[in-house]
Parts: sequence; structure tokens; C-alpha cells
Amino acid sequence: MNFNSELQDVPPYEPGKPLELLIREYGLRPEEIIKLGSNENPYGASPLVMEAIAEELHRVSQYPDDSYADLKQGLARKYGVIPENIIPACGSDQVLEFAARTVLRPGTAVLLNRATFAMYRIYSQLCGAQVMVTDTIEHRMDAFYELYARNAEQQKTGAAPIRMIFLCVPCNPIGDCPPATEVFAFIRRINALTSQAETPMILVDAAYMDFARVRDTQREIKPAELLAEFSNVLYTGTFSKSYGLGGMRVGYGIGPEEMIGWMYRLRSPFNLTNLTYLAAVKALQDESFVQKCGESNFSEMRRYEELFQKLDYDYFDSYTNFITVKIHNRSAREICDNLLRKGIIVRDLTSYGLEALRITIGRPEQNDRVLAELSAIL
Ligand SMILES: Cc1ncc(COP(=O)(O)O)c(C=O)c1O
Repeated sequence: MNFNSELQDVPPYEPGKPLELLIREYGLRPEEIIKLGSNENPYGASPLVMEAIAEELHRVSQYPDDSYADLKQGLARKYGVIPENIIPACGSDQVLEFAARTVLRPGTAVLLNRATFAMYRIYSQLCGAQVMVTDTIEHRMDAFYELYARNAEQQKTGAAPIRMIFLCVPCNPIGDCPPATEVFAFIRRINALTSQAETPMILVDAAYMDFARVRDTQREIKPAELLAEFSNVLYTGTFSKSYGLGGMRVGYGIGPEEMIGWMYRLRSPFNLTNLTYLAAVKALQDESFVQKCGESNFSEMRRYEELFQKLDYDYFDSYTNFITVKIHNRSAREICDNLLRKGIIVRDLTSYGLEALRITIGRPEQNDRVLAELSAIL
């Protein structure tokens, strides 16, 4: 058989370690395991969601309403946009794929932050695009702009044009978040430098925005404001983090109608199930759950910051539901393995080029145990 040789250069995505791995490899019981490696919501999901799903089980044999009208309506209300601006998907990950496939192909380039969500690179490579990365770990708009401007110059001598820019705000894996005004100013500068026909798609991945908003409203980017000003920006959101529906796989893109229309051509029918669709609709009816989770997230995060300060470990200021700490003297992998044997899953960031650990902020009693182990190990 002839496999597509372009796939050879595409690294498969490495997800955070699952619970089942520790049960299999270390013989631990599920109740002994604390899973803080994938930025899931440690408080689960809203009770409204749980009750609704239980009542919907009889519908497993039926296809869902492929218009997903209630979900689009709920999101349109939350964000002050219209349903035609919205495309629902199987996780926001699927929106990233649709977006990349809409504008990237061989002979084009894409611009990413040096440390950022791994799927941006993977989808871009799958489209045959050349990947360009900033040289800073922090999400710096000036670093993006410099590279973009240089590329605009180099196109005169044949460089592949940048057709897409992935912004991750707040950014996984270090949790930093530029103020909204900086992001808007950046988009204006990019658009001013490019002719209308050549403007790149700018994707604002807001997977952690609900957390940033709770900490500082100045960081919140509102899709309605993006839509009012730009025709080349796509905002992506997810139910996996703040709403606690990681296992349900629901995300969405919000953009100009024309862009959403192009993305719909790539969508397979029924990309949400009856249960995931209902879960997302119900989750939107309980914003107080999101607010409470956000508040307790940041008060618990303080405890990690205090420990790292006490032990003299550098960490990144985070606007998300995780905190990233730099490891010195030893490898992040060693510490991660050490914690794993004790039933604690955190994320080793070596594959992101960082000697660091990313820890999702857990429930208070989970954090008690993790902080005690970290004090002993670091
Ligand atoms: C920045 C970012 N974007 C997108 C995703 C994908 O999330 P999902 O596909 O669960 O919506 C993640 C998941 O961790 C993420 O960290």
C-alpha cells in the first residue's frame, strides 16, 4: 500500500495521561488517583447537565437534530451574536481543523507561538502549510507582528504567504494572556499591512477565556466586538474546560457568516451526538456554575503560587485553570514520574520544549495532597 508520505512529518498528538493508565501500570484504585494533567474541570459539570443527560438516554437510537439550533441559540445569547455566526463541533479541536482546512494548503504558511497548543501545528502540517513560530514562550503580539511583517517583505522574493495566525488567549501551556486591547491592536496592524484579498485568517482560541474573564475583565475578548470590526477573525470556544464537559466533546467557532459558511462545507453531518448536544445546551443555562468554578480556581491557585515562592521555583502568572512551574536541578519528567507513582497526574511539558510541569488546579482536598507531595519532592 502507498501511504501518504506527507504524514511522516506529522507527530501524533500526545494527550495527557488517562486514569486507566495508572490503574493498569501501578495497580492504583480510581479513588486514589488525582488527574490534573488535562485541564479538565475538577468540579465535574453542572447538575442541570447530569439530570438532563440521564433523561435523554432513550434517544440513543435516534440521530440528533443536525441544525443544533438550541445550542446555536444559547451561544448567540451568551455572546450577543446571531446563530449564523456559529458552527458547533466535536470539541473546539474540530473547529481548529475546519479552520485550517479552509485556508491552508501547500505553498501557504501559518504563524504560531513557540509554545502553544500542539494541534495548531498538526492541522497546519496536515494541510501541507509551512509552520512559522515566534521565538518567545510568552504570547507576545509584537513577536507575532515582527514575523508577519518580515514574511510580507519576503513574499517579494518568493516566500510562502502567511494565510493563518493562531492566537491562543489565554495560552496553553503557560497560562499567559495579553490584554484584549493588545489583541485588537495587533489584528488592526496585521490587516493594515495586508490587502483585503490577502488578509490571513486570525484564529482566537479562547478555550480558557471563561477563566481569564473571572480574574480580569480587561483580558476578555468578546466575539461580538471582533465581528463588528473584522471579517477575518474566528473565535473558538469549548465546553471542555469551564463547563466541565471534556468527555462530551463539544466546542464551537464564531465568525463572519461567510467564513462559517466555508467551514460548514467541511463538517460531517451529526458531529455532535444527542447527549453531547443536550449537555452543552443545559450547561449554558447554568453560568453560575462557571463563575463559582472560576472563583475557586483562582483562590486555590494562590496556594500553588505560595508554595513555589517558598521553595524558590519560578512559575508563570496564569489566567487559566492550570499553573506552569519551571523545574530546575532535575528534569520535569522525573518529577512527573515520581508524582505518577503516587497517583497524581500532571503534565510534563518537555515535548513543548519546556523544562516545566503544568498542573491543573484541582479541588481543595486534591490540592492538599498535591501540594504536600510537591513540598516533599521539589
Ligand atoms: C488551547 C486549547 N485549545 C483547544 C483545545 C481543545 O479542546 P476541546 O477539543 O476539548 O474543545 C485545548 C485542549 O486542551 C486547548 O488547550
